[in-house]
Amino acid sequence: MSKGTLVLSIQGGADNWSPQRWVARFNAVGGGRKVVLLPDQIADPDDVHYAAVWKPQPGVLAAFRNLRVIFNLGAGVDALMADPSLPKVPVVRVAVDDLTGRMTEYVVLHVLMHHRQQLELRDNQSRKLWQPGAQWSAGAVTVGIMGLGTLGRDAAEVLRRIGFRVVGWSNSAKTIEGVECFSGRDGLASFLAKTHILVCLLPLTADTRHILNRGLFERLARNSPLGGPVLINAGRGGLQVEADILSCLDDGTLRAATLDVFEIEPLPADSPLWSHPRVVITPHNAADTDPDAISAYVAEQIARFEAGEPLQNVVDVTRGY
Ligand code: GLV
Repeated sequence: MSKGTLVLSIQGGADNWSPQRWVARFNAVGGGRKVVLLPDQIADPDDVHYAAVWKPQPGVLAAFRNLRVIFNLGAGVDALMADPSLPKVPVVRVAVDDLTGRMTEYVVLHVLMHHRQQLELRDNQSRKLWQPGAQWSAGAVTVGIMGLGTLGRDAAEVLRRIGFRVVGWSNSAKTIEGVECFSGRDGLASFLAKTHILVCLLPLTADTRHILNRGLFERLARNSPLGGPVLINAGRGGLQVEADILSCLDDGTLRAATLDVFEIEPLPADSPLWSHPRVVITPHNAADTDPDAISAYVAEQIARFEAGEPLQNVVDVTRGY
């Protein structure tokens, strides 16, 4: 009996996203299961049981009547949720230590960079200026994390370990040891009023689109040793209003920003964000997905599913994450 075909549909730019690399990895862990990279011809579309995708063309999975599970090859599922023709089967998102660890590295790197005033020191270096400046302890800074799923929770725990005060905000109530957690619209104002460095790891949904706007920045704590609130967004570009970020940087509502994601990607060459002295830009690579770790994770989920065990990290399509 056929083990069922796994189709891959991958739109990716970075080196790590070479579709051939993903095909090789899925062949290596598939135990003989047929792997087809779309748009290659499929001999028997009814034999397709699984799909592993990253930003597939809308509608591309609709032809597979016997599809059982869709695996999203990244943490954010907003691109999939936007496809009304997506087959009504479980969607599993990636939650592996490898990806979580990479995001925590990014968050810690940029929190520390702003906390230790690395932008100013770099600027001084370019002018051969030896100016140690004031230094404060991590315990004087409160990092507020929006989004307390797998990624937010891990970053919160590591930041706490380094000595920062950490507060968190999420849609539904969460508990993390040593982290004051707020939830829902009611908890947002109290969370913001404590936050010096805002880290956004929220999923993009109809509720969170444009949540990072002037009204929100104005409610951040203004007693920061950093000289003003700092924004770090490694979630999705659709969460932010870039015109508000720029105007808030210019009038002091925000002190600085690190942005990994943008309303339009790649960030257009004429965006003023590129050359703003207090903006750090990274090209949506905060936490790359590793084909080795993720193909093994998908194979493990398929084995669970076929053994009649529940899939893990299934997306709630009504919530959109
Ligand atoms: C990357 O953006 C991801 O969602 O994993």
